[in-house]
Amino acid sequence: MISIIGAGRVGSTIALQLVLREVDDLHLIDVVEGLAKGQALDLSQMASGSDSDIKITGSDNYGSLNGSDLIIIPAGFARTPDMTRLDLLSKNQEIVKYASQKIKEFAPSAIVLIVTNPVDVMTYLALKITGFPRERVFGMGGLLDSLRFKTVISSILGISYRSVDTLVIGEHGENMVPLDRFSSSNGIPIRALISKQELEDAVLETRKSAAQVISLKGATTFAPSQAVATMVEAVVSDKKSLIPTSVLLEGEFGVSDICMGVPAILGTGGVERIIELELDVSEREQFAKGQASLIKAIGEMAI
Ligand code: NAI
Repeated sequence: MISIIGAGRVGSTIALQLVLREVDDLHLIDVVEGLAKGQALDLSQMASGSDSDIKITGSDNYGSLNGSDLIIIPAGFARTPDMTRLDLLSKNQEIVKYASQKIKEFAPSAIVLIVTNPVDVMTYLALKITGFPRERVFGMGGLLDSLRFKTVISSILGISYRSVDTLVIGEHGENMVPLDRFSSSNGIPIRALISKQELEDAVLETRKSAAQVISLKGATTFAPSQAVATMVEAVVSDKKSLIPTSVLLEGEFGVSDICMGVPAILGTGGVERIIELELDVSEREQFAKGQASLIKAIGEMAI
């Protein structure tokens, strides 16, 4: 069973994606009385129309986490156009802390996927509170940033999304690291296909794209839920997919004791392997800026 803690805009859209993909039975939890049950009922009625036989339930009681194999946490406050993800830290840490305590109590063997922002810091918090190994607690950020980079690059190139691969690592935030050196169209480096100026503009647009969606429609939902569903499928179906994932670093990329987005292999064991890359000087500088901002944020938390 897959449980989703937080049945708001992102949580319910993740549920929708997972129902359509028929990944596993689903359980939703929310503190707002009736919300998770209502979402589950609505989704069940949708599933019946698509001949999907997965069971969807909802509850406002954390005890119902019992039996969860994988738990996704998109509970908490979302930012408004004037905020950065790190501005959510003080509000969301109590929510993620509480959810992590309950996961430890009711689902001690589960794999945990953090979505709540600031996701790298919340992943670190969930790791510390659950005490689970790093393989079983990781966050979604880099895949979403990579999808955003891909959207921009495909549009510049006029080439199908299917023929474009992009990679964004580092902090899921202001200091993300879009890696054009490791992005390509069917093996052709994108640097060979677009000008330096176009590339710089694409990176800038990628960095700003979440804020743009938030200012236009109030929240990001479809792209994040696509990214989460891809990560969930990689784990549940043991796909061994290479996905940028926020994971606790223990010396990889020269970093220790913070969670940051790096290329990782996701499979049935969760994060099964981290792929280290040789970064050039400017990539390393940008990665280090994210590292510094996350160290500061972690230092501000009461763990
Ligand atoms: P929302 O406000 O629509 O939904 C949040 C839900 O969490 C609400 O239904 C609320 O009742 C529930 N909640 C609050 N405290 C809870 C608790 N202790 N236990 C269970 N449920 C609780 O917000 P939205 O738009 O769904 O965003 C949720 C989070 O996801 C935000 O922190 C947002 O920044 C983050 N996010 C992260 C992304 C990423 O790339 N990692 C992308 C998009 C959103």
